[in-house]
Amino acid sequence: MKGKNQTIISEFLLLGLSIQPQHQNLFFDLFLSIYLVTVLGNLLIIILIRLDSHLHTPMYIFLSNLSFSDLCFSSVTMPKLLQNMQSQVPSIPYAGCLTQIYFFLFFGDLDNFILVAMAYDRYVAICFPLHYTTIMSPKLCLSLVVLSWVLTTLHALLHTLLMARLSFCVDNVIPYFFCDMYALVKLACSDTHVNYLVIYIMGGLVVVLPFLLIILSYARIVSSILRVPSAQGIHKAFSTCGSHISVVSLFYGPVIILYLCPSANNSTVKDTVMSLMYTVVTPMLNPFIYSLRNRDMKGALGRVFCQKKIPTYV
Ligand SMILES: *[C@@H]1O[C@H](CO)[C@@H](O)[C@H](O)[C@H]1NC(C)=O
Repeated sequence: MKGKNQTIISEFLLLGLSIQPQHQNLFFDLFLSIYLVTVLGNLLIIILIRLDSHLHTPMYIFLSNLSFSDLCFSSVTMPKLLQNMQSQVPSIPYAGCLTQIYFFLFFGDLDNFILVAMAYDRYVAICFPLHYTTIMSPKLCLSLVVLSWVLTTLHALLHTLLMARLSFCVDNVIPYFFCDMYALVKLACSDTHVNYLVIYIMGGLVVVLPFLLIILSYARIVSSILRVPSAQGIHKAFSTCGSHISVVSLFYGPVIILYLCPSANNSTVKDTVMSLMYTVVTPMLNPFIYSLRNRDMKGALGRVFCQKKIPTYV
């Protein structure tokens, strides 16, 4: 018995999306389309912002960083999910699982921190419009981005190293479609006290703190608008902040429902839908939320793609 328990598990089964065989192709096409739209949409935003000098402002530089992070975040889970949908045995090797955990945490956190930087940027733009350019200098933008990368590297590394010291014995079935850190800790047969402790403490710091900072910036924005109410001011604030607030709620809504209000009866369907929301749907929607309603982005689209054509006709 002991010998059997000591078997070292070299791969895990990802049984998250148990789709019936007759629907397999439909879902494969659906997820492939979502992934392609995510990649192309976010790439388009990065390219537009790079090429159009009108968009070289802090808000768009952060947006470009957010698109990069979304693109990578969905590439952590989607290609493996698509491959598993095509194969008979939806497995992932141990090293692949740890790699997925590392990059999932890395880009998930990066999204998180960049959303905070974007909220701070809007707070300065609306509450201190006269000092905006001096406060949000290129140096501060760069420092905020570098700080996000450093913090998120340390955080992802901490969890991945703590996971790497766990041993896994018999059970290797993960009831998700990607290697979720929490699901993996549950499977471990070594002592996991430290892991749970770090997950709760860091989860609090890395998810709740940025969320509170974002809420705080928007609260200050709303109170500063209400102090001098003018139809124009309200319209301006809502048009700049509306898209931010949608992205923030799309990102934090599912994360909060999933991790802070865990379902009592372990309802896997709800968990799967919620994790699909923030791993698959949110990264796809971000570029559209920012671009479709945004006059600057539409203008840039026209300038970048039409300017190129003019010389060929002249
Ligand atoms: C992210 O922000 C930094 C600092 O402002 C900027 O230099 C960099 O080009 C941005 N990255 C992308 C992909 O836009």
